[in-house]
Formats: sequence, C-alpha cells, structure tokens
Amino acid sequence: MYSIEQEKFFIDSAHLFAERELNSDDLNSLKDIIHYADWKYYVQDDPVLADAAYDYLFKQLKNIEEKNPSLITLDSPTQRVAKGLNKDFPTVSHLVPMLSLENSYNAEDLIDWDRKCRELSEQEHIEYCVEPKFDGASISLVYENDILTRGATRGNGTEGDDITMNTKQIRSIPIKANISQFHIKQIEIRGEVVITKKRFAAYNEKLITNGEQALANARNAASGSLRIKDTNEVAKRNLDAFLYNVSYTSLIENQTVHPAMQTHKGMLESLSQLGFKTSLDNIKTFYHIDDVIRYVQEFEEKRDGLPYEIDGMVVKVNRIDLQERIGQTSHHPRWAIAYKFKARQATSKLINVEYQVGRTGSVTPVAKILPVALGGVTISSLSLFNEEVVKEKQLMIGDTVLIERAGDVIPYVVKSFPELRTGEEQEIIFPSHCPVCSEVLYKPEEEAVWRCTNINCEAQVIERIAHYASKDALDIRGLGDALVRKFYEQGFLKNIVGIYHLPFEQIKSLEGFGEKSMINLKDAIEKSKTQPLHRLIFGLGIRYVGETTAKALARTVSHLTDLYEKTKEDLLRIDDVGEKVATSILEFFSHHDNRSILEALEKEGVCLANTQKNDAMQGDLVGKTFLFTGTMTMKRSEAEALVEKNGGSIVGSVSSKLNYLVVGEDAGSKLEKAKKLGTITILSEEEFMGLLG
Ligand code: IVH
Repeated sequence: MYSIEQEKFFIDSAHLFAERELNSDDLNSLKDIIHYADWKYYVQDDPVLADAAYDYLFKQLKNIEEKNPSLITLDSPTQRVAKGLNKDFPTVSHLVPMLSLENSYNAEDLIDWDRKCRELSEQEHIEYCVEPKFDGASISLVYENDILTRGATRGNGTEGDDITMNTKQIRSIPIKANISQFHIKQIEIRGEVVITKKRFAAYNEKLITNGEQALANARNAASGSLRIKDTNEVAKRNLDAFLYNVSYTSLIENQTVHPAMQTHKGMLESLSQLGFKTSLDNIKTFYHIDDVIRYVQEFEEKRDGLPYEIDGMVVKVNRIDLQERIGQTSHHPRWAIAYKFKARQATSKLINVEYQVGRTGSVTPVAKILPVALGGVTISSLSLFNEEVVKEKQLMIGDTVLIERAGDVIPYVVKSFPELRTGEEQEIIFPSHCPVCSEVLYKPEEEAVWRCTNINCEAQVIERIAHYASKDALDIRGLGDALVRKFYEQGFLKNIVGIYHLPFEQIKSLEGFGEKSMINLKDAIEKSKTQPLHRLIFGLGIRYVGETTAKALARTVSHLTDLYEKTKEDLLRIDDVGEKVATSILEFFSHHDNRSILEALEKEGVCLANTQKNDAMQGDLVGKTFLFTGTMTMKRSEAEALVEKNGGSIVGSVSSKLNYLVVGEDAGSKLEKAKKLGTITILSEEEFMGLLG
C-alpha cells in the first residue's frame, strides 16, 4: 500500500504538522496523512501517531474545512464522522446476487467436491485457495471512481439494506480506494463484519456493569451493530471488516482486465494493496486436495487462539477463468465450499425457567436444562437474557432446545424445536413481581429488562455486597456470593460497612467455617482497607461506572469526597464520562444514604484518599499533561509512550490545560506561547527523564 519512503515521509510530515497551525494549502497532505494513520491503526494494527497528535491533525482538518466548505471532498476523513441518526435503511439491489456457500464437514466431502471441480473444469489439477470462514455479518461494498459509494447488508441475497453511513463507522473500511490503478471504474466487494473476541468481551462487560443484558455471541453483536440507527453508537462498537471476494467489476473505458484480477489470491492481494483488511496472512494455496484437508484440520486446532471467531474454512478455486467455467447454482458457487468446524452445539431439554435478580435490580430469566456436555464443560443452567429473547425464540417449558457454546463465550439457547412438542409443554410466564422481595417489576419503555426498584431488595443488597468484595473491586478473597448470602441470612451483614465489623465469634460457630478460612477472611478484609481508590469507586457499584471510568474518576481527586463537589461539567470533562454516566454519578453522591455509608467506611479504616495521586508528587505522572516540541534525541513516540506508561497524557497544543512542555532543539512557537501563558513548566529532555526517575 505504501512504500517505506512514503511511510517515513508521512510520519515526518505528521510530526511537522503537529507543530504548527495549518491552512488550506496543507489540506491535501493533511488528508493523506490521516488516511495513512488510519490504515496503520485500523488495518495494520500498528499505530504510528500518539492519540493527541492524531486528534490535533483531525481537528485542524475540520477547522480548515469549516472555513472553506467548498474544499470538502467525499474522500475526506471527516466524511466518515458519525452524523446522528440513520433515518431508515432503504432497500437496495446488489450488483450481483450474494450467494451462500455449500457446506462440507469432513475429508470425504472435500474429496468429492475436488473431483467435481476437476471434472467440470476439465483440469487434472486445480490450484485451491484456502482461507478462514469468518463468523460475522456479511456486507457488500461498492466503490465507484475510487470512492466508497454504498455499503449494504446481505438481506435476502438479491436485495439488502443500505447501511452506507454505518459501514463508514468501521474504520478498517477505507472510504477511498485507488481501484483505477487496477483499471476498475466500479467494483462490488464482499466481506464479513466482525468484532474481536476481546472487544466483544469488553463490550459485554460494560453491558453487565451498566446492569444491561449481555449479548449472546460475537456474530450477533456484529450483525446487530450494523442495523443500529445511531451512527455514533455504531462507531463505539469498534467493528472490523475482512474482505474476501470481488463479485463485480466494470472497467475504465479502453482498459483491459488487470493481470492481478485473474486469480482469487491476486484479487485479495490487490484489495490489501488498496488498503482493505484481508486474511492474507492465513491464506494458503495448494494443488492437491489432501494438502487442503491437512491445512483445514490444522487450522481447526488454532481456532481458539485467533482474535476473531471463525466457524470453518473456505476453499476456493484460485483461477477466475476456471471459476467461471465451473459455474454456480442459484444458491451457491460450485467453485467454492465451506469446511465447517465441529459444532459447538448440543440439544437438551428445557426443564424450568427461574428468575435471578441482579445488583441493579435487573430480573434475568435463567433456563434450567437437563445437564449436557459441551466443549469440555457440563451445562445445566444458562441465561435467557430477557423477556424479549424468550418471546422471540418462542420457548416453552418442556421444549427440546439447541444450545451453543462458542469459544469463551457464555453458552446460550439458539432455538427450540416446536415440531418435537408433545402437547405437554407449558408457557413461560414472566413474573409481574420481584421473585425475591415481591415488589412490582418495572420496565422503562426503551429497555428490554424488567427491574425490581426496591433498593433494599435482599437480592440486590447481597449482589451489591458481593460486587464490593469481588476480585476487580476490593478483592476480599473468600467473601463470594454464597458466603455473603449466608452472612446476610444470619443477620451478620446488612450492607458493605458490615464487612468491617463481622461478628467473628458467632461466625466461628457456623458449620463448615474453619479457623483457617476465618484468618484468611480477616486478612483479606484488612487488606481491602488500603486498596487503590479506583477499586473502591468501582466497588460502590455506581450504575454505568465500570473499571475504566472508576480509574478515570480516581485520577481527578485526592480524596473520594472530592467527588461530592464535582459538577456535571467537571464530570463531562473526564475521559469516558458521557451524559448518562455523569448523571448517574451525580445522583449517587447526592444521596444522603450513600454519603453516610462512605463516612462509615472511613471510620472503619477504609482509605478514601488517593494514595496513588500522592505517589505522583514523587515522580509519577498520573493526571499530568505533556507536550513535546523541537528536535529531541529520543524518538517522540517513545517519549510519549513513557508519559502514558507513567499515567500521564499527551495533549495536542499549548493551552492552560498543559502542565509540561518538553523542549528539544530549535523549539519554535509552542515554546513562545508556553512562556507567555506562564503556567506551564518548561523542561529540557534531560529534566523530563529526571522527572521519570
Ligand atoms: S465466499 C460467492 N469467503 O459465509 C462467494 N464467504 O456460509 C461466497 N463467509 O455468505 C462467499 N467468510 O457471509 C466467503 N472467506 C469467506 C467467508 C465467507 C465468511 C460467509 C459469507 C457467506 C457465508 C456462507
């Protein structure tokens, strides 16, 4: 995509640009630099600019365009930026129908398929391309005259939904691609939108923290995300797209087919060259089906180690002319076949549905099934998420159900088999009252989750205490859900403060509670008093405040009670805090009961001070902002990484928000400005290193 010289040039230009005010003469270079930085970050997974430098350049581009609207072009990085709501998703026709794939499950299937391909193409040997089969949502992208003009879902294969604005939120999809270099005027490219296992897990964790329901699997997360109306929300999902097929091209007048377009692999290489994400690293070609079989089987072993979910491999005839000769049915091409990995599914019987009340009062239906072994564990109980899921799947007690467990993902019910019903099945009736405290359940219109609003509901209190003691919060080992419940039921524990005056004399006499576990528990409770402040903040279970937000909040205070003084505006300035989160934090600290609990915790010896912040005074950079200017002996990216590693952050310009300006040789306007402001500490490179100790 870029030569080494070009890469060097872009990186140098980016740093030079980050040093000065830019104007409309810089517009084209600025766009090129941002396209390059996006490609490095989102396609190559190899970022070259610090966030602050990137943000600065992006802001400059926006400013220049705002001042000169006539200079805005469709391929400008600003045209990707989410613009509120999609009105609806109009139906569009694919240029070529999006066919499905035939499935194979074993070596014999592949051997048969190979024989057929060789017969149909009248070839003794065929070169096959073998690639991962992504488990996501398929999309088609149309580019015309080098610009992305349309993105669509698969739909019924002939027509799909126009989701162009949403595809632009997927940053690994380039909004401009130099297809003309391959003699192409218009192209339709197929691919799969996926979400990494890691991002999916993080996203689910956030949902759970927010008291919302987790999503069942990464595939649903990807396909659901594509149809979200709010483009900003789509952007936040951090989706990715792998492109695997060129389904249509029209040539520029008087041009002939580019040689690279004569094989499937050549096409993928071209796509990669154009800046698309492909799975070239994992693609191999073979002339013999036995080698294909070996490769797909080998790959199945590697499945769990991959960052994305794949559910098999796809084998394709490499030469495009042979593909055409072999042809297709109305359902699938004959020149390609999917090799499906072993299913991670099993059937069982739904015996009952129970209802669990969470920390935030959410009521979750839980399916009790006949125990079944799946992917190395026995499953007898699994979440049904919410009432809508139960209704959508039309489940009944007594149904035979299909269970899936993919990778590390929590197991879930795929569907039931209504055709196997005997007439004995019973309807699932969602409770109208809390199964624990009998409070009437409430469901806001826009939510799928019913809630118990009684904050003294036993289930919620127990969950809140267990959350406070959990590993990522105060980490009180030994005080898990079951013990909290026991202590609560015995009347030993009513809220989190109670943890610090547990009646150990009485506890000693509890059955199954030995001397050793008691000493360990006492120790863990004692240790929890000096845990870092962010753990305490997280442990309070403020709605929408997950670990990351708790850390960001902690960084802004010296003592937890400083949070009482924060206004909404103060909170909104903190990373990761939006309107919803800020409101929730304000509400939490405005409650007299919550403040009393914090005071009581402090009286019990729990440290509410930010000890890490005090460490920062002795050299740590937590909460401090930095900017580098001039030529330095160390690489700027390394210096910036050092700041971030030590908890500081980089900003893009000199302003009153800047704490330290580190100056190299030939520092220019930034140094002048910093001197003028007078509030900024100016450091040499040496002094900067001294600060890090
Ligand atoms: S080729 C005409 N290649 O699997 C070409 N499909 O089960 C047909 N899929 O609808 C598609 N990874 O959404 C192809 N490397 C890959 C794929 C792939 C995932 C999806 C695609 C297709 C489905 C069929």
